[in-house]
Amino acid sequence: MTSKEYFNQVAHQWEKMRANFFSDSVREKALSIAELHRGKIAADIGAGTGFITEGLVRKGLHVIAVDQSEAMLAEMKKKLAHYDAIDYRIGEAESLPVSDEAVDYVFANMYLHHVESPLKAIKEIVRILKPGSKLVITDLDEHPFEFLKDEHQDRWLGFKSEDIRKWFIEAGLKEVIVDGVGKNCCAQSGHGDEYANISIFVASGEK
Ligand SMILES: C[S@@+](CC[C@H](N)C(=O)[O-])C[C@H]1O[C@@H](n2cnc3c(N)ncnc32)[C@H](O)[C@@H]1O
Repeated sequence: MTSKEYFNQVAHQWEKMRANFFSDSVREKALSIAELHRGKIAADIGAGTGFITEGLVRKGLHVIAVDQSEAMLAEMKKKLAHYDAIDYRIGEAESLPVSDEAVDYVFANMYLHHVESPLKAIKEIVRILKPGSKLVITDLDEHPFEFLKDEHQDRWLGFKSEDIRKWFIEAGLKEVIVDGVGKNCCAQSGHGDEYANISIFVASGEK
């Protein structure tokens, strides 16, 4: 099964799954680091059903929500129908449907460990950032839980903070900071007694 097929399949229950995996404090941390200003444009990449997008529109930003999965975006459309500041776009990591230097912020929560090439995905995100604007990625620290690959189509078992830092710099970002969120992502295997408890990092950089 591809990651797109997986997310199309779980879309209707993603909100519930997500709340079991990680808490709202991940979003609070990501948004607080970005120093948001009302009226600015943000992109939420791998936006899913709108966990980050919802926080952004509540703070008065316009959001371009990009995801490979039609079903995930359809769930977001239902959930956030009362907001007209969201532009829903189907798109893939390596060719985001956003013009060069179009947005003031980019967020990507729990997206990077699903993409084929994290470095290419980060470079593609940097392409759409305006000069001086900010990228904030929240994702999993390196971990040993292989079952997440089979059961949730994870491609990467999290990341080392030194790799994230290196990729941000190679993609052209400065003021790079990789820190712990202080919260974990938890998941019970559906096929055994393995239980994943993984720390979450927040990485930011400026173009
Ligand atoms: C774990 S979910 C996270 C969703 C949302 N950001 C959240 O925090 O609830 C990962 C999302 O990234 C999307 N995704 C994974 N790989 C992608 C790719 N290569 N291109 C675009 N979207 C991708 C999936 O469809 C899915 O909606």
